[in-house]
Amino acid sequence: MHPGHPTPGPAADVLVIGGGVIGLVTAWRAAQRGLRTALADPRPGGGAAQVAAGMLAAVTELHYGEETLLGLNLASADRYPRFVAELEEASGEDTGYRSCGTLAVALDADDRAHLRELHALQRRFGLESEWLSGRECRRLEPMLAPGVRGGLRVDGDHQIDPRRLARALVVACERAGVVFHRRWVERLSVVRDRAAGAVLAGGDEIPAGQVVLAAGTLSGRLEGVPAAVLPAVRPVKGQVLRLTVPPAYAPFLSRTVRAVVRGSHVYLVPRENGELVVGATSEELGWDTTVTAGGVYQLLRDAHELVPGITELPLTETGAGLRPGSPDNAPLLGPAELPGLLLATGHYRNGVLLTPVTGDVMAHTLVTGELPDEARAFTPRRFSTAQQEVSA
Ligand code: GLY
Repeated sequence: MHPGHPTPGPAADVLVIGGGVIGLVTAWRAAQRGLRTALADPRPGGGAAQVAAGMLAAVTELHYGEETLLGLNLASADRYPRFVAELEEASGEDTGYRSCGTLAVALDADDRAHLRELHALQRRFGLESEWLSGRECRRLEPMLAPGVRGGLRVDGDHQIDPRRLARALVVACERAGVVFHRRWVERLSVVRDRAAGAVLAGGDEIPAGQVVLAAGTLSGRLEGVPAAVLPAVRPVKGQVLRLTVPPAYAPFLSRTVRAVVRGSHVYLVPRENGELVVGATSEELGWDTTVTAGGVYQLLRDAHELVPGITELPLTETGAGLRPGSPDNAPLLGPAELPGLLLATGHYRNGVLLTPVTGDVMAHTLVTGELPDEARAFTPRRFSTAQQEVSA
């Protein structure tokens, strides 16, 4: 077939570019709304979810200046139990969702001051979070270091296994009739100033009424998207370790434990199947996904300060992924400046948490042409030059 030649067969109403959890949930929800949906990705279910720890940390990852994002994070966290039940029913797959809560602890006076400030911020927003002494923290989690100075108990910040989540979404999409094109997308097709599908590696063209660009960090450099429309997402590398808790050591930790150690975030996420995920570095190094001795050392050193017993555990995997960072750390959702093109990218540290709400928001927008109220603040147009001139 000639490059650019339309592939025979029914055209899609929607083509989703990118098969990470964000692309998959968008495709699944769109297909459930009766839209003929296709998805292009060489390895659906891959992407950052293969590395992510899966913390659903709306409260413990609250940051100053991210109040608007907090609303979306909380909306998605609220939806998680129903979302998981529906997805597990639709796919027949277990997602590893665990409503275990989180303990954020402080190891020294600086960390303690930082946590106290976070606690004040959480309370200002009416979030559930309880201050505990070091002794109370260790009563909850006996493997914690004796030096822990205090902590925040957040019973509403849970976890899911992102690899299982991705697998369940692939199956749910297949069962809902999503057509998978397991190839790279070479470029967006634009016909008469409107997104009209995409050309795959090898030259086949997938025509579609609407196109959703949900390719994580790669969304920022898809050929064919006009420069002014390309989303400003950048890769932020995270190195992550996986250890295994042998049955004789269980329960090693009963909830997610995290801390800021000398300015770096470290978290330990214990799964029911014995996996213990330790993350994550945060590095602005372009597209590099090398696992480095320094990254592994930093994570093990900080995790060891928190939970000294981890040195006994088998280290089973190391990996690195790329978070799609946006200029304000919040996602870009909904219509782009090019008619027919929508974005679902820039989820940065919250891709797994924001999966349920993103699916709902994108399906609503694909069907109605309008972002729902809860997502208006996340329009990609907030970064467009015209918008900035109006607000100046
Ligand atoms: N949300 C965890 C991380 O981005 O490392």
